[in-house]
Amino acid sequence: MSDPTVMQLLGRRLRLAVVGGGPGSFIGAMHRQAARLDDHYQLVAAALSSRPDAALQAGQSIGLPPERCYADGAALITAEAQRADGAEVLAIMTPNDSHASLALLALQHGMDVICDKPLSNTLAEAQAVHEAVQRHGRILCLTHNYSGFPLVRQAKAMVMQGDLGDIRLVQVEYVQGGRAVAGPSRRPWKDDPVRSGPSLVLGDIGTHAHQLLRFITGLEVSAVAADVGTIVPSRPTHDFAGALLQLSNGARGCLWVTQAAAGMENGLRIRISGALGTLEWALEQPTVLHFKPLGAPAQIRTPNGPGTLPLAARSSRIVAGHPEGFHEAFANLYTDVGLTIAAVRSGRTTDTLWQYFPNSWDGLQGLRFIEAVLASSRDMGRWTHLPT
Ligand SMILES: NC(=O)c1ccc[n+]([C@@H]2O[C@H](COP(=O)([O-])OP(=O)(O)OC[C@H]3O[C@@H](n4cnc5c(N)ncnc54)[C@H](O)[C@@H]3O)[C@@H](O)[C@H]2O)c1
Repeated sequence: MSDPTVMQLLGRRLRLAVVGGGPGSFIGAMHRQAARLDDHYQLVAAALSSRPDAALQAGQSIGLPPERCYADGAALITAEAQRADGAEVLAIMTPNDSHASLALLALQHGMDVICDKPLSNTLAEAQAVHEAVQRHGRILCLTHNYSGFPLVRQAKAMVMQGDLGDIRLVQVEYVQGGRAVAGPSRRPWKDDPVRSGPSLVLGDIGTHAHQLLRFITGLEVSAVAADVGTIVPSRPTHDFAGALLQLSNGARGCLWVTQAAAGMENGLRIRISGALGTLEWALEQPTVLHFKPLGAPAQIRTPNGPGTLPLAARSSRIVAGHPEGFHEAFANLYTDVGLTIAAVRSGRTTDTLWQYFPNSWDGLQGLRFIEAVLASSRDMGRWTHLPT
């Protein structure tokens, strides 16, 4: 990468606080590692757990002073906002039901926000967060981390420069096997729709698939004909969803997501076909992007290999042939939003190539998508339009 550092833009690292991500959490350590990879952030405060005693202990175990370890997120935000050296960015990695309230409080207190997906459990909350981001003039990054992969960004850049021509068809699937066996989740909040949202599979991975499609194509989903339900008997939450899609340019697509496919690991795949060719990418082989141009031999692109476009080139840290993966893609979002925040906070201009991190609009569109899919499914798969 040849970007400036946050140190160069701001004269210091961004002061980061985290809520959630305590011992044993799935994604907490990933956020903290992603924040450190390019050295743009200093972790200054945390409320790591839903249990106050554990939160205080866990904060100290990662090197924070006791006075910057808080029993809960609200206490952290209000106390840090009063300190001259207080946190200016809040990263939220709690279960889904607390994302919106924590984001709103942080925005009200002048913090920029990095929030894990989904943005909220309800459309009304997502709308409120999106409006608060505008009203307070702050920045919110939603960690749909797959859009940080170099070859996902390469695919986007190839679509933008017209390599596929007009987009005609998109197929995206996210097929996991983690819930193929009946029984409670290892994370009890996931079995409670009040906490995990109206459709676990859509909040967990459907929003990732939807955002990946939107990110690469630049198109919105305008209508869905969907079927959502539960494959594994007696499970209290959805574990599959399928939808035919109409896209904003008239293209057709389909989205298929499940967590109940025995033997599968983390099968996120996308295929995009335009008038001039097709692109294919799969998360489990993330360092190969297939490009099949009309009437010409199939090609591949690799990170930093021949044909790499600028958006992808700045998303790899190492020369071609040295694989990078999930951690680095996650860090790309932290870096891009960090550079943007530092530029804005220091009154400098931002670079357009930093602006491709998912934001509150993407979060709002994710909730609109979930709502439309559920409405369609309730109505026997009737075509259901999303707001334009
Ligand atoms: N971007 C991704 O790829 C990705 C992957 C996994 C999870 N996620 C998202 O991350 C979030 C957390 O998921 P997880 O699997 O890590 O959950 P988890 O249950 O493994 O961990 C949650 C952590 O947050 C803490 N916590 C809960 N409520 C809290 C509160 N109010 N204040 C402070 N801490 C609190 C818990 O004690 C625990 O340490 C979810 O919203 C999920 O959708 C995103």
